[in-house]
Amino acid sequence: MKKYQITGGLPLSGKIRIQGSKNAVLPMMAASVLQKETVELKGCPKISDVFCMEKMLQSLGAQTAWEGDTLQICCREISGELPETRLAGKLRSSILFLGSLLGRSGYGRIGSPGGCSIGRRPTDLHEMALRALGAGVTKTENGITAYAGKLSGNHIRFPKSSVGATENAILAAVCAEGTTVLSGCAREPEVQWLCRFLRRMGASVEGESRGCVIIRGQKRLHGCTFQVPPDRIAAGTWILAGAAVRGAVELDRVPVEELETVLKVYRKMGGQYRVSGDKLFTDSSRVGRAVPYVETESYPGFPTDLQSPLLAAAATLSGKTIVRETVFEDRFAAVRELRKMGARTQIRGPLIEMEKSRLRGAQVAAGDLRGGAALVIAALAAEGNTEVEQVQYIERGYERFPEQLQQLGARIRMIEE
Ligand code: EPZ
Repeated sequence: MKKYQITGGLPLSGKIRIQGSKNAVLPMMAASVLQKETVELKGCPKISDVFCMEKMLQSLGAQTAWEGDTLQICCREISGELPETRLAGKLRSSILFLGSLLGRSGYGRIGSPGGCSIGRRPTDLHEMALRALGAGVTKTENGITAYAGKLSGNHIRFPKSSVGATENAILAAVCAEGTTVLSGCAREPEVQWLCRFLRRMGASVEGESRGCVIIRGQKRLHGCTFQVPPDRIAAGTWILAGAAVRGAVELDRVPVEELETVLKVYRKMGGQYRVSGDKLFTDSSRVGRAVPYVETESYPGFPTDLQSPLLAAAATLSGKTIVRETVFEDRFAAVRELRKMGARTQIRGPLIEMEKSRLRGAQVAAGDLRGGAALVIAALAAEGNTEVEQVQYIERGYERFPEQLQQLGARIRMIEE
């Protein structure tokens, strides 16, 4: 088992280059099976979710190769069945192979998808969308199968915003016969980047920034080379880490336009920053006042993925912060662990209250990706030493997390037992 040992109380300062986006590149990897040539993903983050998705591609028959941070995926020979059903259970994005395998050959079968334990993670909207395109979908406790003699375009109305279900519908529709209109769909940057990637592969997709996607099915798509965009959630995590320890952090390759609500909250707590090109210079020396109320929402609202890191920073602020989690019904694991570090926090239904706390080092355990990052942020601000266990959750989505923090002057090391 791997864990981090962290000595808190040190300010952070220095420069970080933002990694490629986990939640943008995973759908692109699933999309690669829609064509029979090769796609190249440049600036691909080396994180365990990407390596797991790569294994799934290989088990489907794709050939993959790394050249530096470029991942090449050749999809000449692809079967419709993920034989390694346990692989699918390791991450949520495995479900996206249903849409892309349907689009490629009219048949896809995956093991039950996994994902961080932050709620029930139902798949009803995915199934609704694929059925609307003419697919039969059967779900058992072992996995999900989707099949279609022919996929036909349709108007699909999503009753609620779902990033994954929107992505799955797009992946199945780009090679369907006729036109598909998706309304009520997610507008997250990762959905928009998937549409840009699919256009590069020859798909006809438009309207993604307006939440109403129009797709004209194409007979075949082709390979391409694409630069993976920077990870807005990783960038937001570093901004909040700097805020928690009043540091001065320079971030390189930041998607500032995707972080408006996060920067607004950062300013409210006293954060100062300036933008120069794709560099963000943050100065947290005046951070100190609590932000009274923050609600997580679908994009462009405050991202649910930064809820836990925000709470960790909020524990260092004067006053009470109330965060309403509106996206996932059980994204509170980090709160319970932060209490062990002395955090003065209460959960009232979907509301989490956090007051200024005297954080001190403790033995805590990550329970999910973003909650694990929040525990590290709290450990950086705490007095004394903290051990964060189960750090494999953090390695799912953050590239070289301890090394990046060491670059900023943090005292953190990885222990393997
Ligand atoms: C994506 O998950 C992200 N994961 C999540 O990031 C992110 O938190 C989430 O979108 C919301 O922004 C990836 O992109 C790999 P949803 P996804 O479908 O697609 C409900 C991280 O830390 N819902 O938008 O699974 C669902 O229960 C991860 O990087 C249904 O009801 O999220 C939730 O309440 C965590 N039926 C809401 O919709 C469905 O069929 C939003 O979920 C699907 C979802």
